[in-house]
Amino acid sequence: MFRIEDFITATEQDTMEATVRRACDAAVRDPLAQFVFIDRYTRWNGYAGALVAKLSGNIGESQDLFLDANEPDHAQAVRGMDVAGHVLDATVDEHLDKGHRVPHRTLAQAMRKAAADYAGLSLPERNALSEPPAWLQDVVARTFVCYGSVAHDAEALIRSIGTHIASESMADREYAIIDRVFRGERHYEGFYQYLRDRDFRVELGGKLVHAYAWITIHATFESQGVEADHLAEAMKALELAARFRPESSERILELAREGYRDFADIQRDFFVYAERECAAAADGRRQAA
Ligand SMILES: [Fe+2]
Ligand SMILES: [Fe+2]
Repeated sequence: MFRIEDFITATEQDTMEATVRRACDAAVRDPLAQFVFIDRYTRWNGYAGALVAKLSGNIGESQDLFLDANEPDHAQAVRGMDVAGHVLDATVDEHLDKGHRVPHRTLAQAMRKAAADYAGLSLPERNALSEPPAWLQDVVARTFVCYGSVAHDAEALIRSIGTHIASESMADREYAIIDRVFRGERHYEGFYQYLRDRDFRVELGGKLVHAYAWITIHATFESQGVEADHLAEAMKALELAARFRPESSERILELAREGYRDFADIQRDFFVYAERECAAAADGRRQAA
């Protein structure tokens, strides 16, 4: 039985949460900084749904890798889809949210649009500011590699399950912290008050879409959202992968931890650079004023 504590210590968890917190604090200093943060976070996050689906597909495709050793009839022993299902679980709503009936990407775009309106950005400013800086391109490229896995390569697939565990467990904390800073601590001010004044909706493709739901469906500062379920499913996927692979569970954990570490480094870099960019945006605007 694997536990999240096998991947991250309490101290590392605290450090990670403090890094996220600093970036969120930098984001709320100024509407422009808030836009920059939301633009960067929605861009990076916007790949997650597709990458999870690819990982699930790569596991399912690897029919000869995940086998039940207690089943002597070889075709009856194939278990790849059993593992894959627990990964895919995290991306079903990503493609079409059951409640909102749109992909999560659309909800993220609604929030980004509201943040751009809040910052009073013109269309050319929105496009110019959203050109991904080199650090973000690097973060995205590394995310592709680490989530990428390869069908029919057991070690690569187990590493990417570790990446998936990292992504889900960290996203749970990220959304909770964002929600604390944006909503919990600024319930009647700043961006959240701006959204409230507009009944939390923006126009998107002829429809009114909720501009804050993207955060709260994933996690809130007061309660768990879907990320906690996704993490539980990701742990089940690793559990089954270990059951249907010949390697020892120590070796499986070692591989998964490699994928977890790779993603943890990327996640840290994202929030460190996002904080710097938000602080620079807020300082720049202050100097120009
Ligand atoms: Fe999502
Ligand atoms: Fe998730």
